[in-house]
Amino acid sequence: MPTGLDLDHPNAARVYDYFLGGTANWAIDRMLGDKLLEAVPIIQTGARVNREFLNRAVRYCVRRGITQFLDLGSGTPTVGNVHEVADKLEPGSRCVYVDLEPVAVAHARILLDQHGDPERHTVLHADLRDVKRVWKDAVATGVLDPSRPIGLLMVSVLHFLHPQDGVAEVAAEYRDLLPPGSHLIISHATLDAVPDEERSQFERGVELYRLSGNPAHPHHPDVIRGYFGDFRMVRPGLVWLPDWHRDAGAYHHSARLADNPSACCFLGGIGVKD
Ligand SMILES: C[S@@+](CC[C@H](N)C(=O)[O-])C[C@H]1O[C@@H](n2cnc3c(N)ncnc32)[C@H](O)[C@@H]1O
Repeated sequence: MPTGLDLDHPNAARVYDYFLGGTANWAIDRMLGDKLLEAVPIIQTGARVNREFLNRAVRYCVRRGITQFLDLGSGTPTVGNVHEVADKLEPGSRCVYVDLEPVAVAHARILLDQHGDPERHTVLHADLRDVKRVWKDAVATGVLDPSRPIGLLMVSVLHFLHPQDGVAEVAAEYRDLLPPGSHLIISHATLDAVPDEERSQFERGVELYRLSGNPAHPHHPDVIRGYFGDFRMVRPGLVWLPDWHRDAGAYHHSARLADNPSACCFLGGIGVKD
């Protein structure tokens, strides 16, 4: 049992793991998960659509020569983790995972012990808001070379930061630290421009998430776009996840929302530091 584990409250990482069919969740997480599934039936598809976006985005980066990744709020390992997706295209790729939830970190350690390469893959237990420490520790692992472009992922995590945490400043600090050529991958929940039915369901979902250790804070697309700063957006820009590189594979669950992409309530994109 990892230390620091809070089993008195449901946790977003473990609820997400439940949605994705994983085993790193407890009864208290499944109780909230079931309530969420009842209130927001599309949420499970949304989680899978998010994983598919992550898959397409990582492959996009590898094809453009990005072979090292820093995955912030990486979650509990599931199918298609960043290092696995990258390794398929570039067997020498590197990845540092970072998460705050002890269970997610413990599971990542087990996975990497069994299937990773300690010289190329590692996981840190850290709070992504502690930018200087995360960066210093990630570089100190020796897995990342800070002089070469990095793929920095903040996928489905920034909406778990409280607006008072200075999310824009956190994103800006990471952008400043990244070497030129780096790619910033973000997906984020929004309730703006979402069809009425899904919007009211997700509003109930946000209320339920308040019961977990990680309340969710969806934002207006302009706020999310701001996290990319002056980075050049890869086409088609910040869009509904099913609309991002539709023809790049990893589209099984996304296809269900192809005609109604905003129903997933998730925007995503990649920005490049030129
Ligand atoms: C919904 S999961 C997303 C997992 C993965 N990025 C993905 O998209 O499949 C959100 C993750 O962010 C983590 N998280 C939330 N706040 C965090 C913080 N301040 N620092 C690091 N990780 C955090 C949670 O523990 C959880 O594992």
